[in-house]
Amino acid sequence: MNRRQFLTNSFYTTIALSLNACGKSQTHEAMTGMNTSATRLNPKNIISGEPLRPPAKLTGAVLNIAPAQAHWLADGTPSEVWAYDGGGGSLIELMEGETLRLTVNNQLPEPTTVHWHGVDVPSDQDGHPHHAINSKDSRVYEFIAPDAGTYWYHPHPHKRASIQAARGLAAPLIVRAADDPLAALGIAEHVLLFTAPQLDEHGQIAPHNMDEQMNGRDGNLLLVNGQHQPVLSVPAGATQRLRLINASNARYLRLSFEHADMVQVGSDGGLLTAPLPAQRELLLAPAERVEVCVAFTQASTLKALPYDKGWMSDGMGSQKPTPQTIDVLRVEPTGQAVAATPLPKQLRSIAPLGEAKITRQLILTEKMEMSMAGGQHNMTMDFMINGQKFDMSRTDFTARAGEVELWEIVNQTDMDHPFHIHGSHFQVQDAPYLAWKDTVNTRAGQTVRLKIAQKHAGLRMFHCHILEHEDLGMMGQYEVKP
Ligand code: C2O
Ligand code: CU
Ligand code: CU
Repeated sequence: MNRRQFLTNSFYTTIALSLNACGKSQTHEAMTGMNTSATRLNPKNIISGEPLRPPAKLTGAVLNIAPAQAHWLADGTPSEVWAYDGGGGSLIELMEGETLRLTVNNQLPEPTTVHWHGVDVPSDQDGHPHHAINSKDSRVYEFIAPDAGTYWYHPHPHKRASIQAARGLAAPLIVRAADDPLAALGIAEHVLLFTAPQLDEHGQIAPHNMDEQMNGRDGNLLLVNGQHQPVLSVPAGATQRLRLINASNARYLRLSFEHADMVQVGSDGGLLTAPLPAQRELLLAPAERVEVCVAFTQASTLKALPYDKGWMSDGMGSQKPTPQTIDVLRVEPTGQAVAATPLPKQLRSIAPLGEAKITRQLILTEKMEMSMAGGQHNMTMDFMINGQKFDMSRTDFTARAGEVELWEIVNQTDMDHPFHIHGSHFQVQDAPYLAWKDTVNTRAGQTVRLKIAQKHAGLRMFHCHILEHEDLGMMGQYEVKP
């Protein structure tokens, strides 16, 4: 078995490593070697400084999912990726209440699904692992977009979500309200979708190594709308609305503009009740979104500051990486400065969910075991919820549509896990402000409480949105009864 085969195959199973004693050091070296070659990727060889391209809008009723080429390397070498409609962005824009009817063609060599992350679609349109579209097959997704907000879509096939997303599959989906108070003020907006591919020394998407399976892929390139360190030109002083989407597999984004404050106006599920006080930085966990308003009076670099999400060792001497500060985007104000737009005091109303009828505890655990059997070293990696790995044939519990539940997400692991629930949005308890969310970060040792009332009947998934953890079992499903 060559290295690529070994790493790819190993990803399917919990027995991620099975090799004899003499093969051990060799394989370890190979994996360390891959790490090094990946970091050897010289940023100077990556195209940067180009004007930021807004994601191309998906027009028409067809979405093709197929291999494509990305152009990141300055020497012109293309990177082989998987993309929605060629990789130009494939932004889906809908009005609240509008119906999306889309034929999806799967031209990948394996099954996939399209999950409309954060959009409260019927369970049979949700793109969860039960409804795979086979290779060379197609299906129609049809749903009404019920709530305005910043969403995105990505693959959700059984045990392959992390691999497919790592190859490039992620795109934005914006649902607009007819009476959006910020749009009414004429505030310009920009969609910034972040991804973090890991390229090898040839500029190709690298297969996952053990560290990445355990900790999630952080990537060695941080891209905005598929571009490395692009430049966004804006009128000086004018208020801009930025919709930030963390579409990376596992990279935590602690974002900060050098010379500008951000006023958060929205979260996963649309606008907040009122703008928050200005802040210099914010944390965007994998799959989370925020909307912020920013006025730029001087050139300003958006930086991703170091963030320690915790770390699990592969038990074979791999080193915890030191988080670095990375330049993500450059904003350049142009023209004579104009005045910023005063934001409305009130954005919309959000009713707090009432008293919970049911309390559930969801305990996140991880287990890594090395064992010797039959002269072989075996490593088992399990990521679990309430002591169990995801099983497609098991329904973890049932709930009732419309009934408020209190979920306590108890993180008993050594690292952060962004917890996500499909279907209706939830409200994080003890949070500093009221918001509709579908993904919330849980820190190592932390318990996060949230309230949720699913609006519709059907099967709903919940999982860690470090996609590698989802694939390795940190996922469950529950049946919502009418
Ligand atoms: Cu964005 Cu079940 O995921
Ligand atoms: Cu989702
Ligand atoms: Cu996780």
